[in-house]
Amino acid sequence: MTIVAAREIEVSYYGDILVLQGVSVEVEEGKITIVIGPNGAGKSTLLKTLYGLLTPRRGRILYRGEDITGMKVHHFLSKGLAYVPQARSIFPELTVRENLLLGCWIMRRDGKAVQEALEYVFSFFPMLREKQRAKAGTLSGGQQKILEVARGLLTHPEVFLLDEPTATLAPIVAKEIYAFLENLRAHKTTVVLVDQNVKQAFEISDYVYILELGRNRAQGPKAMFQGKLREVIQDWLDYEIPGG
Ligand SMILES: Nc1ncnc2c1ncn2[C@@H]1O[C@H](COP(=O)(O)OP(=O)(O)OP(=O)(O)O)[C@@H](O)[C@H]1O
Ligand SMILES: [Mg+2]
Repeated sequence: MTIVAAREIEVSYYGDILVLQGVSVEVEEGKITIVIGPNGAGKSTLLKTLYGLLTPRRGRILYRGEDITGMKVHHFLSKGLAYVPQARSIFPELTVRENLLLGCWIMRRDGKAVQEALEYVFSFFPMLREKQRAKAGTLSGGQQKILEVARGLLTHPEVFLLDEPTATLAPIVAKEIYAFLENLRAHKTTVVLVDQNVKQAFEISDYVYILELGRNRAQGPKAMFQGKLREVIQDWLDYEIPGG
């Protein structure tokens, strides 16, 4: 069953330049959908639109069949969507615990729910329990990213949108994050992952979307791309390094 969908969305930041020119995606519940494509393809823009940070000029965003186009972000959040942006979004001067408590904002009147949410993320990332009192800015880059991911997880999202969560991370931390995402399947959490680490993202994926220049280039179940991914990536490399 499709849990979240974009139907032929057109999105621009300003003026007449359409960054997404009629992009469509259907995200299957409980599966891992990856969105890949070269720089500037519109991957981050798609994710922001699925989370309600941007409103399409044309086209529709559907959640469990309900049209939620144009709703405010807190509606998307209360529907069960969570989002981890590409850029760093933690507060370095606050402690790890304080950063997590900010992610519990929508349940702030329910102490028990907050405690359960913290326990839920600590069960995935015990490191955060140990570092609760540390200023977030003193964590390593990998630990900071784990904190951001954990903050998204606090609301127990039905759909978890992540924008390049492993970019710039050491391979060992990246591996931990991929293993965690794979593990979310067992928790029935739907994952939409934008990633430049095409190979690793592909390994954990169920469904693949390839965007190029603001349009759908190809899509299909993982099996459709098995053994063919290299060709696709080669295209981007040829494009980015002409003759190189
Ligand atoms: N805030 C913004 N204002 C204006 N234009 C933007 C903004 N953010 C992105 N763009 C433009 O929109 C296009 C798509 O950007 P987007 O960030 O969605 O691509 P991407 O596929 O995520 O790329 P990357 O792999 O570099 O993260 C690019 O041409 C970019 O310059
Ligand atoms: Mg991006």
